[in-house]
Amino acid sequence: MCGIFGIVAEKEQTLGPILIEAAKRLTYRGYDSVGSATISGSKIDLRKDAGKVDEVAEKYHFSEMQGSRGITQLRWATFGIPSQVNAQPHLDSDGDLVGAHNGNVVNNVELRQQFMAEGMTVRSENDGESCVHAVERYINQGFDFVTAIRKAYNDLEGDYAFVIGKIDDNRLYAIKKGSGLVVGIGEGFNCVSSDLPSILPLTREVIRLEDGEVITLWADRVELHNVKDGSLIEREPEIVQESMSAVQKEGYEHFMLKEIHEQPTVARELLHRLAGSDNEISKMMDKIKNARSVYFIGCGTSYHACLAGAIYFSQLAGRSVMPVLAPQFKPQYGNSIDERDVGVFVSQSGETKDVLNALEVGQSKGMTCFSLANVIGSTLTRKTEGWVPLVCGYEISVPATKTFTNQVISFLYLAAKLGGRDMTDFENLPDLMAETIHQTDAQMQALVPMINPWDDLYCLGFGTTYPMALEGALKFKEITYAHCEGILSTEFKHGPLSAVTAGFPVIFLAGPEDIPLIISGINEVTCRGGNAIAIGRADGRLAANATHTVTIPKSNNAFSALLGVLPMQLLSYYIAIARGFDPDFPRNLSKTLTVD
Ligand code: M6R
Repeated sequence: MCGIFGIVAEKEQTLGPILIEAAKRLTYRGYDSVGSATISGSKIDLRKDAGKVDEVAEKYHFSEMQGSRGITQLRWATFGIPSQVNAQPHLDSDGDLVGAHNGNVVNNVELRQQFMAEGMTVRSENDGESCVHAVERYINQGFDFVTAIRKAYNDLEGDYAFVIGKIDDNRLYAIKKGSGLVVGIGEGFNCVSSDLPSILPLTREVIRLEDGEVITLWADRVELHNVKDGSLIEREPEIVQESMSAVQKEGYEHFMLKEIHEQPTVARELLHRLAGSDNEISKMMDKIKNARSVYFIGCGTSYHACLAGAIYFSQLAGRSVMPVLAPQFKPQYGNSIDERDVGVFVSQSGETKDVLNALEVGQSKGMTCFSLANVIGSTLTRKTEGWVPLVCGYEISVPATKTFTNQVISFLYLAAKLGGRDMTDFENLPDLMAETIHQTDAQMQALVPMINPWDDLYCLGFGTTYPMALEGALKFKEITYAHCEGILSTEFKHGPLSAVTAGFPVIFLAGPEDIPLIISGINEVTCRGGNAIAIGRADGRLAANATHTVTIPKSNNAFSALLGVLPMQLLSYYIAIARGFDPDFPRNLSKTLTVD
């Protein structure tokens, strides 16, 4: 999703390198175009194009850009194709204002027509340009800048944040409505961005904006206003503790590999955190226990965690839960939920629009809403009654890995608690995860030559391994660009089996309690010449029947399922590398999806 950054410095300087670095630190959000603008006196220098930060910055010599104020933006196309004209920032009609947004202005098409009818110069199809014209409209009517933004807010429908500046001024202005916005307070400068990574190398003193707030930034102070009534808001800055090393690769070739290897550590941190949060957890558990119906709601990888959670809640606590893909929540349950029900909304980013939409439906019906989220201060965590922090630190790579395993562990832990189970086994889980990664890394690399030639394969699971098979297949699709379908192993014979030809790869995630059933599936594949790869703990039956076995450490059924997804993450990574793809930034995908 798009990312914005703006800075106001106390004097004219070469802002280009700062803007390039800020843009680079936003790339993990996913993007297809990049642009920068600097304002120097009555001159705006605007340079932008579709492409990667390094290429565009070099081609247009961003590093030479001068000014006392600067804006940079990474665009992930929604309105208008990725192109130079649609890239952001955008100018107003006379080239006096420049601004860029993050998010989605849903009435963009209507607004563009209005602006043109009013005689404004509309150059692109992009909704970021509408934010600039919406402000221009009221500046032209003689309003001061903050009032113009407040009035523009009423015209711009959707969820967005934007930053904007004007020639012959010494300020930048920004507004938040639905998309993230953080202000950095520095020595001799102030800055604003969609999120922290682009700010932390400059300053650790930040102010997090709430929806409906407008910020004015000078080099030496900031002023916060309520968009509705224009009143001044007092908010003390906070000091961010997270280390920037979390956003660096620490010797790994890719963030994905680093994040795969971080899983045991963040699992340990999560378990400590959960063990020390008995009060908050009991509150959530009571509500879940006494609810009429319980829903676990998420998208993509987070939905797979919901599915796993629903299985654990039934198996370990006897509590039935409905796992739901967030956009399906309204059509499927919108008419039947009420205040007797509980929803747990699951999201790495806490900003996924589909999830926030479902939350709105739940809250409008009086449902009690909790969340599992990774990003502290995200919209989801602020809007729910209570939340379980996933404590994974930044997950930079677009494919979710460590946040998935911590989502699953959170559910597993909560289910075991609710079911009054012995919790001592959890102590071993991080070590089992570390052992699995260590033990399967070479095994998965060895499988690359056999699997890589195929652009179509299956990953099957049953019971607790079923959600892991879905997740393994999603990981594979996301970064190798091959089609990998995750299905219930018993469903394979009901149709997909027809795909099997000589050498066709089918991966089986074998839970210890389901080995006889998995073996039936394996033989359906091997007797037709296919290659059956079984991932499970050492078991003579698997070894005797599968074409290849990948051995994971011995553990119980629930842990074993979780361990099984780790080699699938590694396999996806190594196939992506063999194919020459960047696993951290897969084409067409975005880390944070703030659009419908
Ligand atoms: O931030 P969220 O967990 O709400 O994101 C949901 C999905 O977009 C996300 O899980 C997506 O499927 C990942 N890229 C998967 O790796």
